Amino acid sequence: MPDSISFTQGAAIPVAGKTALESLRTLDLKPGNTLFVAGASGAIGTIVIQLAKNRGIRVIGSASSKNHPHLLSLGAEKAVDYSIAEWKDQIKQWMPEGVEAALAIHRGTSKDSMDIVKAGGKVVTVSGDKVDSEREIKVEQMQHQLSIQEAVNMLIQDMVEKKLHLVIEHVYSFEQALDALEKTETGHARGKLVVSMEEA
Ligand SMILES: NC(=O)c1ccc[n+]([C@@H]2O[C@H](COP(=O)([O-])OP(=O)(O)OC[C@H]3O[C@@H](n4cnc5c(N)ncnc54)[C@H](OP(=O)(O)O)[C@@H]3O)[C@@H](O)[C@H]2O)c1
Repeated sequence: MPDSISFTQGAAIPVAGKTALESLRTLDLKPGNTLFVAGASGAIGTIVIQLAKNRGIRVIGSASSKNHPHLLSLGAEKAVDYSIAEWKDQIKQWMPEGVEAALAIHRGTSKDSMDIVKAGGKVVTVSGDKVDSEREIKVEQMQHQLSIQEAVNMLIQDMVEKKLHLVIEHVYSFEQALDALEKTETGHARGKLVVSMEEA
């Protein structure tokens, strides 16, 4: 592990990081393309925004309003609040013809995400949502192609070069592990949660 990466950061990289990287590979977008990320302030979304921005992809993400400044600071161009009725209209104001692709991270967001993708675009889902294609939109589950070691090496390189900031909301002690699990299950964690085995 490079000196600039802590053990806590290293432990937080693999699953969300690999999922974010593989999601972008499955999306297969080009610089200048537009991407909607549904559930953008969680563990996967906070990494996807940065990886996409680094590849010249323009990102709009959904999250609660309180997390919007955070999404913008990571590189999203715009943020919408999934809890207000007009969020799809706000995306259409930004991109009147719709976005080229959507990444549905939070469970149950794939169908709504399809509504703001332009005809012939793509929806990639990581949550396992099953939706039927409409308007010739390609619907795909995120594909696993890289080994975990390859993915982690790529992500660590980006972190060392300060192109990727790993967002860690909280480090819990081992005794608090169930609290961490409960927080994850809320679907409202900002970035990663880590459980540390170190003695306080
Ligand atoms: N395919 C794979 O290999 C793989 C691997 C890992 C994970 N996953 C999947 O990825 C998902 C977990 O991802 P994650 O931990 O990054 O995030 P998550 O906990 O599923 O979602 C967090 C994000 O969703 C937003 N959100 C909460 N409620 C919402 C709602 N009702 N509608 C729309 N957005 C909502 C949150 O915003 P606020 O907090 O601002 O409200 C936050 O931005 C799970 O579905 C898991 O199964 C798949």
